[in-house]
Amino acid sequence: MDYQQILENIYQEIKPYTSVGQQADYIPALAKINPDQFGMCIHTIQGETFKYGEATTNFSIQSISKVFSLAMCLSLEGDSLWKRVGKEPSGTAFNSLVQLEAEKGIPRNPFINAGAIVMTDILLNHLKHPEEEYLRFVRAVSGNSQTNYNKEVAMSERENGYLNASIANLLKYHRNIDNDIERVLRFYFLQCSIEMSCYDLSQAFLPFANHKQTFSFEGITLTASQVKRINAIMQTCGFYDEAGEFSYLVGLPGKSGVGGGIAAVYPQRYSVAVWSPRLNRKGNSVMGIKALELLTTQTQESIF
Ligand code: DON
Repeated sequence: MDYQQILENIYQEIKPYTSVGQQADYIPALAKINPDQFGMCIHTIQGETFKYGEATTNFSIQSISKVFSLAMCLSLEGDSLWKRVGKEPSGTAFNSLVQLEAEKGIPRNPFINAGAIVMTDILLNHLKHPEEEYLRFVRAVSGNSQTNYNKEVAMSERENGYLNASIANLLKYHRNIDNDIERVLRFYFLQCSIEMSCYDLSQAFLPFANHKQTFSFEGITLTASQVKRINAIMQTCGFYDEAGEFSYLVGLPGKSGVGGGIAAVYPQRYSVAVWSPRLNRKGNSVMGIKALELLTTQTQESIF
């Protein structure tokens, strides 16, 4: 498969979408970036790499970090995680409060904000030095020791994070948060602020594409069955109220972030990351979704 040629073809086809959508501005630090950027990278499980555009430019991974949090929680907490978080698609926005109230503080899944805030609380219960250990894991899985938090982005989100603060309060009211709310939010926003490039992100998702190989990074180990299940949750919940549409158009497990990144896997074949900051109304990258749709269409490779 000539993935390099396919990446070039994809870019030619998605060019008309260059100025469609807007970058996230509810986090002021993210509103400042140039929205007219596009990068894409594929890593195959045979060890090949294919890059296009701004594939080595760092961006804010935001909710894509929720996949790393889930990997850590499943390793550290095991199946008792599912007593505190569900695994059903929400069909609602990533920051919705409505369902959380109706369902008495049990978030639908780990990838909506409420679910990730509960996972953050679980990580705080397990880790002695949570911020350091989280970063150490992400650095190991991406193979880049320079990967870091962006404290300015984290602070900018904290200063404006009224909705996430409401979610955390509602969770605490329902006794689904053990730690101090402020402590939980601070760590949650830091996770979201991690910066990576498409190259690093696709590298970091390769172990999720390769579930037949042992997953073990910095003491975080997952069985093949756990990796398979993380993929299942990406497939059903990775795009919030657009998960059905992403499944329909692309047909790969994946996860988006409001920084404009999307990471996805084709199990036993490749991982892919794409980034373009302009988002649709559901908070997912316009060109990112289009590029992945073309990738699975042109290669005729998808899980379906
Ligand atoms: O908590 C938030 O709202 C952001 N830090 C992350 C949201 C996000 O990336 C949703 N993804 N599309």
